[in-house]
Amino acid sequence: MVSRNIPPTGDRQRPRRSCLAVPGSSPRFLEKAQGLDADHVFLDLEDACAPPVKEEARHLVVAALNEGDWRGKTRAVRVNDWSTHWTYRDVITVVEGAGAALDCVVLPKVRDAAQVGALDLLLTQIERTVGLEPGRIGIEAQIEDAAGLVHVDEIAAASPRLEALVFGPADFMASLNMKSLSVGEQPPGYPADAYHYVLMRILVAARANGLQAIDGPYLKIHELDGFREAAGRAAALGFDGKWVLHPGQIAACNEVFSPAQEDYDRAELILDAYAFHTSREGGARGAAMLGEEMIDEASRKMALVVAARGRAAGL
Ligand code: GLV
Ligand code: MG
Repeated sequence: MVSRNIPPTGDRQRPRRSCLAVPGSSPRFLEKAQGLDADHVFLDLEDACAPPVKEEARHLVVAALNEGDWRGKTRAVRVNDWSTHWTYRDVITVVEGAGAALDCVVLPKVRDAAQVGALDLLLTQIERTVGLEPGRIGIEAQIEDAAGLVHVDEIAAASPRLEALVFGPADFMASLNMKSLSVGEQPPGYPADAYHYVLMRILVAARANGLQAIDGPYLKIHELDGFREAAGRAAALGFDGKWVLHPGQIAACNEVFSPAQEDYDRAELILDAYAFHTSREGGARGAAMLGEEMIDEASRKMALVVAARGRAAGL
């Protein structure tokens, strides 16, 4: 695998609270997405593009990246998966045509580490050919079938280009023969959270490799309460963000994946109090009381996570 002239994984933590799906075949949506408040956009050449328009969509995506105003957003393109004949040309057309205006390639239906390795090698050749900084294009890997989940640890370690693992619930539900037709919702008849294991599995593999973890879509786009509930579950576990399929989901998503003001304030308080109590002037104590609660080094680490997210969200 290539070595990269970039900071190690874990330092490439881009904003990804809300990741907006934009069909690459639609000039109207490619235009509209630029003015929306999503942290991250992915221009989709995969399932949001019907087969007859996939090839022309590549050129629309290149033009939108080069000519659009995507300021402040993480810019990604989802290519087709390696089981199709489209993948290599998706990557070549998009990265040769707009590599300087692109942050990441989203690789769907990743089944093993070799699929990430293949994309890494292709990106390396294109970067060299067109004179892009080596390693500038990152990879987001979608885990969306049983094989992908079984190999998730190897996938998460497969390339220094990896920035995030993304759960794909729709394909995943199909891959398991899950008895549900409503993506993002709990399957009827199961009395607990049917996604707990898979979300936790992805999250742990991501964190063990310094990657972000992103939850997939919720397809009932007008049911905001259901969206909030699904997003809230992923956020509570520690996920960094979630896909949004409709502008109406963006504000809720940004809110759910930002700490509440009260939690952010408490986190800053813990950091200040801990810094004071561990200093010589404060008594150089390893643990101290803050209100009703004891705080120590582990509390500081937990507070750092919340504080960092709150600062990023501008709280
Ligand atoms: C997304 O790609 C999904 O399959 O849910
Ligand atoms: Mg999918």
